[in-house]
Amino acid sequence: NLTDKEYDERIRRAKDQLGTDLVIMGHHYQRDDVIRYADFTGDSLELARIAARQEQAKAIIFCGVHFMAESADILTRDDQVVILPDMKAGCSMADMADIDELEEAWEVIQEDLGDTVIPVTYVNSTAAIKAFVGRHGGTTCTSSNAKGVLDWAFSRKKRILFLPDQHLGRNTAYAMGVPLEEMAVWNQVDGEWEDVKGPMEDLRVLLWKGHCSVHTKFTVDQIKRLRERDPETKVIVHPECTFDVVQASDLDGSTSFIIKTIENAPAGSKWAVGTEVNLVQRLAETHPEQHIQLLSQTMCPCLTMNRIDRPHLLWTLESLAEGHVVNQVSVDPETTKWSKTALDRMLSIV
Ligand code: 13P
Ligand code: SF4
Repeated sequence: NLTDKEYDERIRRAKDQLGTDLVIMGHHYQRDDVIRYADFTGDSLELARIAARQEQAKAIIFCGVHFMAESADILTRDDQVVILPDMKAGCSMADMADIDELEEAWEVIQEDLGDTVIPVTYVNSTAAIKAFVGRHGGTTCTSSNAKGVLDWAFSRKKRILFLPDQHLGRNTAYAMGVPLEEMAVWNQVDGEWEDVKGPMEDLRVLLWKGHCSVHTKFTVDQIKRLRERDPETKVIVHPECTFDVVQASDLDGSTSFIIKTIENAPAGSKWAVGTEVNLVQRLAETHPEQHIQLLSQTMCPCLTMNRIDRPHLLWTLESLAEGHVVNQVSVDPETTKWSKTALDRMLSIV
């Protein structure tokens, strides 16, 4: 076990040694003791754009989760390597959409609804899912650009299959004016439709039955209790929260939207924030002039994001400095081709 000072010295030494050959990226949900070493920080859309712009770096160490590192690999050149400090840093939501299940669902959808559906996947999905979407004329989205992407998709087809996050899909489509009656959920485990409220022909948004185990922990009861305690506190949540929570909140939006809203708020503003705890704590520390608290009274860390820690970062850095690439995330060429089609479409739409 190293001391804080030893970690800091060794991480900085290895980083200095690698110079411009290396870029470290960090998602906003990363721990403080990791994100402080990132050359770039951002939400998933910003990090995808930044990865696509890296000309000089030979290696990217991605402090985030597996699907984000895959996207970075897809968007960078073949001679650039992408490293995930801990391969166990997955995303439970991304794991809820399996390519075989999607192929089966697509057959049912074609039978039930014909060629009227365009697939759109949240970037929180595997490269194989992104490739499927790319091959079938669809695209990806993030929570920052979901509305623009759904507008684009509706200009192509009558219906959208949105995966894996039913909540982001439902919340975004509803905010665009699609009533709940025109949405249904595809239960990929049982292979059947759920929540069908009217005739199938009326359906416009088909939601995959996936969710984020962190954001679905926020509840309407928490909002009610908070408003009883302090009616002046504004509630701001991520759109991966459930429909009822988003409807009960004052504002909802992506990680970057939450950060920008709080950064631009006047001193004395009061916020209860429904998103990952590392980000909320950092916002509270960097804005002591405001009152910022987590919406829930209990902690809600994204456990997989938190797997990226200093020992793993140091190990990947020192290995790289010694000439060994460890924990490389590499997407095969065929999957890269089609998932890049999907990601490039997104980057050109918004
Ligand atoms: P953002 O798109 O807001 O970065 O969110 C990514 C994520 O995993 C949220 O849970
Ligand atoms: Fe996945 Fe949720 Fe963690 Fe985001 S917060 S990486 S969606 S499990």
